[in-house]
Amino acid sequence: MLAELQSLSDQAQTEISAAGDAAALEAVRVKYFGRQGSLAQMGEGMKAVSKEERPAVGKKLNEVRQNLTALLEDRAGQFTAERESAALSGVDLSLPGTFAVPTGGLHPLTQLLDRTVQIFRRMGFALADGPDIDDEWHCFDALNTPADHPARNEQDTFYLPDGRLLRTHTSTVQIRTMETQPPPVRIIAPGAAYRRDEVDATHLAQFNQLEGLYVDANVSLADLKGTLEFFFRELFGSGTAVRFRPHFFPFTEPSFEIDVKSVAIKNGAWIEVAGCGMVDPAVFEAVGTRRKDAAYDPETVTGFAFGFGLDRLAMILTGLPDVRMLVENDVRLLAQFH
Ligand code: DAH
Repeated sequence: MLAELQSLSDQAQTEISAAGDAAALEAVRVKYFGRQGSLAQMGEGMKAVSKEERPAVGKKLNEVRQNLTALLEDRAGQFTAERESAALSGVDLSLPGTFAVPTGGLHPLTQLLDRTVQIFRRMGFALADGPDIDDEWHCFDALNTPADHPARNEQDTFYLPDGRLLRTHTSTVQIRTMETQPPPVRIIAPGAAYRRDEVDATHLAQFNQLEGLYVDANVSLADLKGTLEFFFRELFGSGTAVRFRPHFFPFTEPSFEIDVKSVAIKNGAWIEVAGCGMVDPAVFEAVGTRRKDAAYDPETVTGFAFGFGLDRLAMILTGLPDVRMLVENDVRLLAQFH
């Protein structure tokens, strides 16, 4: 029986090496390992083997099984490898793909902010920053906003229990910048602002503003107009008309609202885009109370300031009808602006 096993093993090995493909190999496997296969028959044959011989024959049968199983797996592995490399031959991995991989893109607000920062950078404005949670001094008092101003009302502003608040505008950064650095100051400060507004198509409780401030000796209204006209023409196109309409802000005097008009936006109607003005001397005086020097003496420096809503500008530029669309993050909408 040992000799029989050996010749079965030799025969199987020959057939495994000779198998030309996976199907042929499977036939060999069934022939030896199948339920009616040669190895099963050998197992049956064990019954007839004498007690003395049985351990040796059993051991040999196991060895043959293990050995053949390993050979079958090896050969099958070879077929798989050949199939894979055949599938890859003729594929040039250095060629560009035939379908586009989705890559995502910048949110329209981020795109607008990047453009805005670029335009002001060209005019020498640096980026400045301040906290979203601020105090009444930076948000109101230092900005010449009296105690009875509606913006200070609890119904309009988010107050924290300790008396601090979520800034209602980025104008806070004007004060923080002047408190910490001497003139000349030429900054823009983009960031979030918060108001207790009912959320609707044109209002969000958290929105985005951009504040600007330029303070130096002899900064004039002509500088203000030139800077902002340039900015809005860069943004909306060189054919854009820019108008400064007298207005009131506590922290500037005189103050203006800026309207723009272009055939490309809202059928050429005037549309309000920003507030601005010459820094009120009272603001410089307030800053002076927090500084150890007289760097912001209103007799020696002048300045202009401006502020606008980035969400509003983004809506005008993209034609979006509802400001909430800017925060819903619906990919079907955002993908249109990549
Ligand atoms: N802070 C104003 C607002 O939230 C915007 C603004 C208007 C900022 C005039 C200014 C300015 O710096 O001069 O509506």
